[in-house]
Amino acid sequence: MDESDNAVQELPTSPISEHQITPTILKFFGLKQLPFSLSPNPRYFYLDSQHEAILAKIMYMVENRQGLSLIVGDIGSGKTSLSRLVFNEYADKPEHIVKYVTNPHLNTKNQFLRLICDEFGIPTTRDFYTQLKNFQAYLGESYEKKLSPILIIDEAQVLKGAQLELIRQILNYETDRSKLIQILLFGQSEIHNRLRLKKNVKSRIATYANLDAITLEGTKDLINFRVNVAGRQKPLFTDEAINEIYKVSKGNPRATITICLNSIPLAFRNNQDTIDQGVIKEAIGETIYEQR
Ligand SMILES: Nc1ncnc2c1ncn2[C@@H]1O[C@H](COP(=O)(O)OP(=O)(O)OP(=O)(O)O)[C@@H](O)[C@H]1O
Ligand SMILES: [Mg+2]
Repeated sequence: MDESDNAVQELPTSPISEHQITPTILKFFGLKQLPFSLSPNPRYFYLDSQHEAILAKIMYMVENRQGLSLIVGDIGSGKTSLSRLVFNEYADKPEHIVKYVTNPHLNTKNQFLRLICDEFGIPTTRDFYTQLKNFQAYLGESYEKKLSPILIIDEAQVLKGAQLELIRQILNYETDRSKLIQILLFGQSEIHNRLRLKKNVKSRIATYANLDAITLEGTKDLINFRVNVAGRQKPLFTDEAINEIYKVSKGNPRATITICLNSIPLAFRNNQDTIDQGVIKEAIGETIYEQR
């Protein structure tokens, strides 16, 4: 059995869909928007000290052109959200050319290279070595123009050996002191198994970070932050309600948000504009648990 089979996790999924939270419900709670949308929106991303430290590490490595970074986290821990935040951070900076690849489910090295070239606007050809040469030429020209290309790959745990091998090849393009492209891999912990077999890629990782579960205090801050961004100044949940959420979420951001989302229609039905422990218990009872 492969180690990833052991990584069975139970995550709550929402029995309600976001569009069921109508403008009337939002108004009842004094909210302008839904604070608990499950899509990874950077505006709703709460940067605690852990995230700030990871972000600083990533930016240091990008700005010093160190090559490869790996950011690992459990399902729902915030990898996609963080990767989008990094994307946005560099998208506005004229000296960087940042591209984002998600779901890199492509079988061959060639297809993967073409996908990357296409992202950077490099004409694609069928021949792998011609394509590689074109890519190398592009990186060289970018370096001369003082431009720094960044490639962000989300769901990197699905990368196969050949694709990791391509990443190694691409990282070989370098000057005496720096890499010509910065690659950021975001993935679930199964990526460790893949990298164990690809020691030559693993040895090139310049920055490694793990997205840990958030603390109880962090859970409270994350929830209050989202409620604030959504337009409500006073807390939406009592402290006891947040303790109850944390007992189940164990600091997993997606689980936290799912329980919060599910509690909104219940509190509305009870005519309670502040959500207490009882409502959370009810919301948890109605939350479906999914095995992954
Ligand atoms: N620091 C945070 N602040 C606010 N919301 C967060 C934070 N981290 C994660 N979330 C929220 O948690 C949910 C899951 O996050 P995300 O999709 O980024 O996780 P993931 O690690 O990419 O999950 P998967 O393994 O399924 O790809 C999203 O709704 C996201 O907005
Ligand atoms: Mg993700």
